[in-house]
Amino acid sequence: MNLVTQLPRHPSRRDILNDNGSLEIVSPIRLLKIEASPRGSKSNSIALTDAFVTAYRDAVPSVTVDVMNVWDERLPEFDNAAIDAKYKGVAGSAMNEAETAVWDRIQALVARFKRADRIVLGVPMWNFAYPYKLKQLIDLVSQRNMLFTFDGERFGPLLQTPRAMVIYTRGQEYREDLPTPPSRFDHQSSYVEFWLHFIGVQDVRALAVENTWGDKAEASMRAAREKVAALAKDFLTMPVKHSTNSPLTLRESETI
Ligand SMILES: Cc1cc2nc3c(=O)[nH]c(=O)nc-3n(C[C@H](O)[C@H](O)[C@H](O)COP(=O)(O)O)c2cc1C
Repeated sequence: MNLVTQLPRHPSRRDILNDNGSLEIVSPIRLLKIEASPRGSKSNSIALTDAFVTAYRDAVPSVTVDVMNVWDERLPEFDNAAIDAKYKGVAGSAMNEAETAVWDRIQALVARFKRADRIVLGVPMWNFAYPYKLKQLIDLVSQRNMLFTFDGERFGPLLQTPRAMVIYTRGQEYREDLPTPPSRFDHQSSYVEFWLHFIGVQDVRALAVENTWGDKAEASMRAAREKVAALAKDFLTMPVKHSTNSPLTLRESETI
């Protein structure tokens, strides 16, 4: 049974969808840049999302960027109070002080997603998946009636952000003909992209940059910087691709 309802076909209210499917931006665009690495200026994924934003800003000088680094945000624990707040939030019951505090923080984080016209997300591979702090953010903001609906049987998306770009960085290389085939070893991209579609992002583009560790790192990062600059220009106006059947199969991705 497919529990995910069809995604809405309309673009966000700040975009106009032309007859040929291309997006026309009608007002300053708000980019939510999510960083999942704690490595600051040493981080490959942050360097690449920075390069993406710089190229994007060349094309759209009026863009505003909200940077959300999951390590710097001091995200609340998803603990007993958070879980009680979650259940009370859905039920509309009164919360105590601790629950109210975490619920307010959750709502503030969700608001940053709701404001975003575009999302850019940098994700390092950690143990073939992604850093746990990113999962903490996902657990915090994935709230019923905020980012998705659930009627007891079907889930539906609530975010109207039409497009996201995900840049993955990986120390090693993943190919089916190597000892690390992605079919077994890649637990990074499938969940991140599933989740973005699940909350409502219709068009998720992805670039996986491999060999970011060791001898090949410099060449790999050089090629990646060029690639992200080109992708950033396309990201603005390229037609949004709508999936006709399963929203979960929609994926435009490349690996370097
Ligand atoms: C805790 C940890 C686990 C890692 N696990 C993997 C892994 O499973 N596979 C891989 O290819 N690289 C792995 N790496 C390497 C990183 O994915 C790689 O260095 C990446 O470029 C880091 O991104 P960043 O510089 O933005 O933090 C790991 C690095 C760390 C710190």
